[in-house]
Amino acid sequence: MTLRTKDLFREPAAGPHPAAELFGRNKGPNNWTSGEPYSPTLKTEVINKNPRLMEYLRQKLNQKILVDLGCGGEQSRAAVLDIAAQVGLRAVVFVDDRFVERDQEIQTPDRTVILLERDMLELATMLHPNKFCFLLSGMDSDISPNRGYNSVLAEEIYRATQTGGIVITYQQDVFGGDIVDCLSRCLHPVDASALMNDPDKVVNQMARMFEKS
Ligand SMILES: C[S@@+](CC[C@H](N)C(=O)[O-])C[C@H]1O[C@@H](n2cnc3c(N)ncnc32)[C@H](O)[C@@H]1O
Repeated sequence: MTLRTKDLFREPAAGPHPAAELFGRNKGPNNWTSGEPYSPTLKTEVINKNPRLMEYLRQKLNQKILVDLGCGGEQSRAAVLDIAAQVGLRAVVFVDDRFVERDQEIQTPDRTVILLERDMLELATMLHPNKFCFLLSGMDSDISPNRGYNSVLAEEIYRATQTGGIVITYQQDVFGGDIVDCLSRCLHPVDASALMNDPDKVVNQMARMFEKS
């Protein structure tokens, strides 16, 4: 069945979300105006070089809806669309408050692609519960430094993640980082060492997976 943008959202609440004052308030010194995209490296250096990880992602993401929070520009989104084709996603929802120019819904023969120009926390609060998987690539602590924002974001991601679904992070804060830390408090970190050919390689350590049981 075709996914429409309206299918992503729950009924609007009567009043503002309790954390509404945080929306749009998570800007660090690195606003990533011209930085290297991360998700192409996630695809070429991590997913494509680790067949067991690819198999795990196929099992977890086939026919699922992946929400890419802080998706970045065309180069980053193209890499995620390649991953979507490799794992058989039903839909990809790209969210960015800078690098998405306007809301769009694109129906292709293989999947739905939705683009939303929105603050990621605001968007996460609008999503249906228990329906999605998530990607947060390149949301390092210098880009997303607000602990209050990140912990509400992690709770909203948890709420919206499908039971049995996964959250993937990929960032340079190899030994943690604020978002990774907040997600670890509500979701189960996956032991990725069994999925990687060389778990000690830094580029592999940058990728973390979380499951909602
Ligand atoms: C380092 S880039 C990563 C881009 C892409 N995910 C990748 O891996 O190549 C960080 C992205 O997050 C976006 N971003 C930062 N804070 C955001 C927020 N609060 N809501 C939505 N997007 C945000 C930025 O505009 C930027 O596109």
